[in-house]
Amino acid sequence: MNSSILTIQQHILQEQQRFPGATGEFSFMLSGITLAAKRIQSKVRMAGLVEILGSVGEQNIQGEVQQKLDVYANEVLTHSLSSREAVGVLASEENEHPIVVPHLSPNAKYAVIFDPLDGSSNIDVNVSVGTTFSILRKPDGVNFESPERWLLQPGRKQIAAGYVVYGSSTIMVYTVGNGVHGFTLDPSIGAFLLSHPNIRMPKQGTYYSVNEAYRDAFPPEYNTFIERMRRGEIGKPYASRYIGSMVADFHRTLLKGGVFMYPPTATHPKGKLRLLYEANPIAMIAEQAGGLATDGQRRILDVQPESIHQRTPLIVGSETEMKELEKIQKDM
Ligand code: AHG
Ligand code: MN
Ligand code: MN
Repeated sequence: MNSSILTIQQHILQEQQRFPGATGEFSFMLSGITLAAKRIQSKVRMAGLVEILGSVGEQNIQGEVQQKLDVYANEVLTHSLSSREAVGVLASEENEHPIVVPHLSPNAKYAVIFDPLDGSSNIDVNVSVGTTFSILRKPDGVNFESPERWLLQPGRKQIAAGYVVYGSSTIMVYTVGNGVHGFTLDPSIGAFLLSHPNIRMPKQGTYYSVNEAYRDAFPPEYNTFIERMRRGEIGKPYASRYIGSMVADFHRTLLKGGVFMYPPTATHPKGKLRLLYEANPIAMIAEQAGGLATDGQRRILDVQPESIHQRTPLIVGSETEMKELEKIQKDM
């Protein structure tokens, strides 16, 4: 066996050793996310078979025909994380209100916020989807009576963040504030193996990623920015890529460089993406990998949230493209 093979569990334990006095509960909490990711990916991989297997009476699948995958993913994450003593509060795109984890353990000192299935409209057409998560520490003096106070913290307070992409492989990317690391699921042994150590976002890329159908409603600086990239005025000729699953669009941007954006639009004047469980984890990963993330005005990680499901514009990408947008904004 190759001794350089490292599983995500071993990696998390190594990271934890950087914190003297760590008890292991943080690692155990993260293992709740990896376990859920494996269960979600196995269901995602079966998505196209649900109807035919259901119709021939495969019990385990038939019972769930009606259940949407995002609801399933939400239940799996909630269930895995609720059994971790370190977790006190959960918040999800699929739940209007935060969940106070019923064990009410005095050791509970973390809140986990997630989008259980991102890009769910892509499921029916066999295109990549994802999961995002953000972990915050309970602020001093706050108890279970005020779960919002565990959650409404700016993204710079995240102690860990990451995502899973269910693409041609299942890949989990995470950070605990010490660089960004990617793990690919080996389905034959059911383990996430370190495949992308210490990911750095290229300084500049050649792709921009945005839903250009909405461009008539974008604030003018975004159209100037897109025009400049289209004309090759930022030093390189650009091509466009847009999947419509933020996690997948961002994963490409992280590895190849470039920029992903969801600016304000006519239907979503404040942006469509959610600050706490979409923009914040993506922004932390981007910054940890040497990229930048803003809402068009401010660093995403400095935005003080006011509500759990609040939306934000998101512009995230390589240093060169992000600086160019900033320059265009200053000149306007
Ligand atoms: P979700 O499936 O969690 O609701 O998120 C969908 C989001 C995001 O993944 C993607 O970037 C965006 O919606 C695409 O929106 P448009 O179809 O408006 O481009
Ligand atoms: Mn989403
Ligand atoms: Mn979702």
